[in-house]
Amino acid sequence: MKYFIGNWKMFGIPKSIEILNKINSFYSKDKNRNKYKVIFTPPYTLIESYSKYFKKKKINIGSQNCYQKDQFSSNTAAISSYMLRSVGAKYTLVGHSDNRSEGDTDSILKNKVYFALKNNLKVVFCVGENKTHKKNKKTFSVLKKQLTKVLERKFNKNNIIIAYEPIWSIGTGKIPSSQELTRTSSFIKKTLKNIFRSKSPPVLYGGSVDGNSVKLFKKINEIDGFLIGGASKSTKKFIDIIRNYYR
Ligand code: 13P
Repeated sequence: MKYFIGNWKMFGIPKSIEILNKINSFYSKDKNRNKYKVIFTPPYTLIESYSKYFKKKKINIGSQNCYQKDQFSSNTAAISSYMLRSVGAKYTLVGHSDNRSEGDTDSILKNKVYFALKNNLKVVFCVGENKTHKKNKKTFSVLKKQLTKVLERKFNKNNIIIAYEPIWSIGTGKIPSSQELTRTSSFIKKTLKNIFRSKSPPVLYGGSVDGNSVKLFKKINEIDGFLIGGASKSTKKFIDIIRNYYR
């Protein structure tokens, strides 16, 4: 199974549902539809209405983040996985570099993953090195730390997906070479096998994925799908990615 996940970040109002509705129509008719899942993570404000709307349709709705505590707490503006699940979210991103840069540490992220799984959300756990790590050849050690400090063997790996997003590639149009990406995704899978002592969960790639760059990635078997930012805000651009991937 492959995954095409659209992360809207700070984008979207109620009527933006039209973008997803057209993607849902495409998906419903696509001859390749049994090979992949489509998931979107709109902002918190739209999760309930979009989840209701797509409940019996094809697109799955998730959250971009969740708070590191169970159920309810006294943290102003915080939203827990329990609350997200109650309004229909099925997935949540955890550890996006945007949120790591705003203070999410490994120990906070561990709690986020733990409580998300406890509340029956599937977790898309994001990892990735920055430009300096890459320049200093620290990519593997950074990724290994990000994975091993947060994920534990006791977590249900069937409800975990990993998204590898090199920070230098997010929104920049810069992408790793296919050789680089093959090596890095193999390394991530090897690390995950060690953590879970069994087959690795799916590993997605994110960073400047569009209808053009996706052509370079489709030969890389280690990659189980994509986490898409900018291009997920346009029906045409998102569909182009799926079309070109299976062409
Ligand atoms: P872009 O596709 O805009 O580079 O964003 C990637 C991303 O951060 C998705 O979470």
